[in-house]
Amino acid sequence: LAVVHPSAGNLGGGGFAVLRFGNEVRTLDFRETAPAGATEDMYLDERGEPRPDASRVGPLAAGVPGSPVGLFELHRAHGHLPWPEVVAPALRLARDGFVVTRRLESSLAASAEMLGKFPETAAVWLPAGRPPAAGTVMQLPELAATLEAYAAWGAPAIPDGPIAAAVELAARRHGGVLRAADLAAYRAVWREPVRFEAFGWQVASMPLPSSGGNILGQTCGLLERLEWKKYPRFGADRGHLLAEVWRRAYADRFLLGDPRTSQASAAQLLAGEWLDLRADRIRLAKATPSDRVRKWSRELAPEPAETTHLSVMDNDGNAVSITTTVNGSFGCGLLVPGAGFILNNEMDDFATAPGVPNMFGLLQGEANAVGPGKRMLSSMTPTIAWRGDQVIVIGSPGGSKIPNATAQVLLNLIVDGDELQAAVDRPRIHHQWMPDKLFVESDSLSPETRRALERRGHEIELTRQVGEVSAVRGFVGGDMLAAQDPRGPGAAGVVRPAVD
Ligand code: GLY
Repeated sequence: LAVVHPSAGNLGGGGFAVLRFGNEVRTLDFRETAPAGATEDMYLDERGEPRPDASRVGPLAAGVPGSPVGLFELHRAHGHLPWPEVVAPALRLARDGFVVTRRLESSLAASAEMLGKFPETAAVWLPAGRPPAAGTVMQLPELAATLEAYAAWGAPAIPDGPIAAAVELAARRHGGVLRAADLAAYRAVWREPVRFEAFGWQVASMPLPSSGGNILGQTCGLLERLEWKKYPRFGADRGHLLAEVWRRAYADRFLLGDPRTSQASAAQLLAGEWLDLRADRIRLAKATPSDRVRKWSRELAPEPAETTHLSVMDNDGNAVSITTTVNGSFGCGLLVPGAGFILNNEMDDFATAPGVPNMFGLLQGEANAVGPGKRMLSSMTPTIAWRGDQVIVIGSPGGSKIPNATAQVLLNLIVDGDELQAAVDRPRIHHQWMPDKLFVESDSLSPETRRALERRGHEIELTRQVGEVSAVRGFVGGDMLAAQDPRGPGAAGVVRPAVD
């Protein structure tokens, strides 16, 4: 992904992994951090107004990449193969070349204006001033050299030495505050997962600095209290209750941020008393206006959905659910010359200006203000669920829609008993508190259901896509199935290694 999917797969970004080995469940946080030179008002002008694009385009938007350290740490803690063997396929693709797909060509075309601002990026990804055509064989020699060093030396090859120096040079040239010392100081953090029980299943998901596990836990906890399962599957009651639950969970997201500054914890927001209180206020007959759940009102910002997810499980039920991101498509647009990877624009996931929604239209609170060394709040929701010897590994890209895409597929499986691929395929809906709208994929609501929801007060808007889920479901030592979302070009499969 770091080679063939440069709009989202990355060495210049960060991510989260939820792992289950035997009975142990843990999570690794390799989220980007704000550089030491970051300040709370770095994206505001002299009048205190947000500077357009400052947190989205160019290296001022880049957090300290976490992926190089995170992926190596996952291997150090749990890997079996020699590290160079793990990196080898990516290295081969970068060095020997890979075929540009139609999706890559069109995502480059969609971001060409931003990428063209940086000659370093344009030289690689817009040769002759435009994206390489689908079918072109693309070689990435600078990225290959970085991967060669990474294969040989592991994590220190990137945060220390010439590659980190190249990052600093590129950032300085374009007004960024990212420095080699930031990369050297970066640490991945093992964290306890958010854990809860839902419809008879044990679930483990990502804790802060992701809001994902919390939103998923609140969704399931509230739906159980509201007896969601008893309502007809595709009827208005279920859609209405999902929207009501999500508007509350996303309103509570407003309190969240880096675990050191968050105004609420998963323990508080998933506590029985809080869920009871939230559930009590939900009416079946009528939508609650979002600004009555928490006061605020804003319009939706444009919504890219770049991130990438991988769900993996082995025959012994060991499982990894891993989501990584550079935030927007091709991150901040700047490719680091000499290193060959594009830097993220994850700083936009902070509350960069009070009351201004980020690129996902999410409103964020004080807890998520920019501060040196802080981790910006995420929505990524890598998740593992299990009951007896059955395990489900699940996750999705999709910005603010990630928790709800993940929740719907999980509910299809654990409440409605769908077959895995059907659970992933089914149309989905989304609500995120603000804007106060129910976003629906085409075919997700029948005309009668739609009218019934409108009568209850929901404003409905069509959206192209709610996430792009990858899922695995298996029995320890037994059958296993993998499913990839038809909404994207990914693939799924079960590989049975030859036995000697
Ligand atoms: N950058 C998307 C997320 O972390 O939620």
